[in-house]
Amino acid sequence: MALLRAKKEPLMQMDYDTISAKYDGFRGVDADLARVIGSEAALFAGARVLDIGCGTGNIEAALAETVDLEVVGVDLSFGMLAEAKAKVPRASWIQADSIRLPLRNEAFDFALMLYMLHHLTDFRAVICNAHAALRGGRLVIVTASHKQIDESFSSRFFPSYAAIDKARFPKVSAIVEAMIEAGFSDVSSRAITVAKVTLDDRYIEKVENKHVSTFHIMNEREFRSGLKEMKSYIVAHAGASPLEHKGTLIVGRKTAKL
Ligand SMILES: C[S@@+](CC[C@H](N)C(=O)[O-])C[C@H]1O[C@@H](n2cnc3c(N)ncnc32)[C@H](O)[C@@H]1O
Repeated sequence: MALLRAKKEPLMQMDYDTISAKYDGFRGVDADLARVIGSEAALFAGARVLDIGCGTGNIEAALAETVDLEVVGVDLSFGMLAEAKAKVPRASWIQADSIRLPLRNEAFDFALMLYMLHHLTDFRAVICNAHAALRGGRLVIVTASHKQIDESFSSRFFPSYAAIDKARFPKVSAIVEAMIEAGFSDVSSRAITVAKVTLDDRYIEKVENKHVSTFHIMNEREFRSGLKEMKSYIVAHAGASPLEHKGTLIVGRKTAKL
């Protein structure tokens, strides 16, 4: 399917078109996370999956290894979608703003939003759109709680890191509330390990390349100074056990109409 182009709105703070070429070098979906999402999704062969803010299609590539799915990925960035299309050519990749999904209602069995709510000006409306897009099935959201942001490894070295992210990431309680208001039932949330992070040269390279958007928002002087401190810490702790990078998984169910 051809990539569809939509008009961009100023709500996306990050230039993911520029980031897209490097994204997969520094971000991926851990196999354990893909397994957790796969089992929460109650997927079956031929299920129609909608990934909102799909990025470079990493989760689609991981899920496709376990079950044959019909995937539609929606993202605002044409560059991210081009990477996704190269990775999983048989899926449909659509450039659109999640606030106005150009999709039929009640057409999907599973919807996913992986680390994208913090980019939205109206996450509640996008959760309503996900509900409308499902004919029945689950919505899975992966995000970070404010406690997890406070306790993150980066927060130790970059003084404004937690404040930047807590201003962007909706609270888990607000997401749960929005899902219930949108009509989802059995909404629950729990902490998960998103990845095990080995503190080594490779990790330093990721941070140097600003692998998370927080580093693009922070001022450059703070970034340089925090990076220097982080490097010294990592050198001093060479060989330490991997850190658990924590996230929060939120799941809700839409019951199909009879
Ligand atoms: C941090 S990336 C996450 C990508 C992917 N879900 C992953 O986990 O690798 C956030 C993605 O959300 C997309 N995005 C941001 N605002 C959006 C919007 N309003 N509508 C659709 N996609 C959006 C960005 O282009 C980017 O690809």
